[in-house]
Amino acid sequence: MKHIISPLDLTVNELDDLLELAGRIYRDPKRYCKVCDGKKLASLFYEPSTRTRLSFEAAMMNLGGNVLGFSSADSSSVTKGESIADTIKVISYYADICAMRHPKEGAPLVASQFSEIPIINAGDGGHNHPTQTLTDLLTIKEMKGGLNNLTIGVCGDLKFGRTVHSLINAMVRYEGIEFVMISPDELKIPEYLRHETLDNNNISYTETNILEDVLPKLDVLYMTRVQKERFFNEEDYIRLKDTFILDRKKMQYANDDMLVLHPLPRVNEIATEVDSDPRAAYFKQANYGVYLRMALIMTLLNLPEPTKEV
Ligand code: NCD
Repeated sequence: MKHIISPLDLTVNELDDLLELAGRIYRDPKRYCKVCDGKKLASLFYEPSTRTRLSFEAAMMNLGGNVLGFSSADSSSVTKGESIADTIKVISYYADICAMRHPKEGAPLVASQFSEIPIINAGDGGHNHPTQTLTDLLTIKEMKGGLNNLTIGVCGDLKFGRTVHSLINAMVRYEGIEFVMISPDELKIPEYLRHETLDNNNISYTETNILEDVLPKLDVLYMTRVQKERFFNEEDYIRLKDTFILDRKKMQYANDDMLVLHPLPRVNEIATEVDSDPRAAYFKQANYGVYLRMALIMTLLNLPEPTKEV
């Protein structure tokens, strides 16, 4: 049985297969509408979510399965002091697969050690968010034609943003990848990522706090919001939250085929006037998330490709 706790839980080959399957589902979703007949997804969300939770639920429903779960810690027995281990042992009797989001780093990993069913990490604190990253990879692959030889700018909260951490971890396995880290000094990438992931894999990267300067050389710009909920004091958040705002004027510096991605939710970091720019791909990215999660559920449940047309 396989769990997805980090994007590195899939080999590059497994990941290619997953993205291929997601692409097939995207092009012909109806064909897959019964593959999870009789199966249940437990969605255990101890932290707020819109896209991740609802796209997991939509994915399971699109596959013909059912969903059960909760969308806040307040409505679960954690308020009575129940441990993750006990919760997941019980959920294993109720569902076939589980997506879990938790504010504590490592909680889904703990759950996977006690679970009888596959666990998917749907975001653990400031650590990882593998299904967002798989969605990002699907979006880049579908819209840029591949995942090699790309210069990727990651902009905003590189310290607390789990989507950035997971994306960097996953992209260093491809060829010809260069990163440009765009952040205020206080929100640079964590040291462990710098040494263990970037330096150990000999990945070239530069760091800047001026977005306009680097825009012309990017193939992908990955914008992120400043992660308010992970700050220790509000003053710092207020001082840093609007450091980077991508607007129509700044987009003039970017190439015609640069993709703008954002895991969403957006706060102020992308002006709404950019939404109509053909390079703005963040809503499309959220759409790809459903197909990616359909493919992931099928893969973890070892469900074969449907043989007949439906
Ligand atoms: C992200 C998350 O939860 O980490 N959102 C998402 O799942 N799409 C990004 C964020 O909250 O900033």
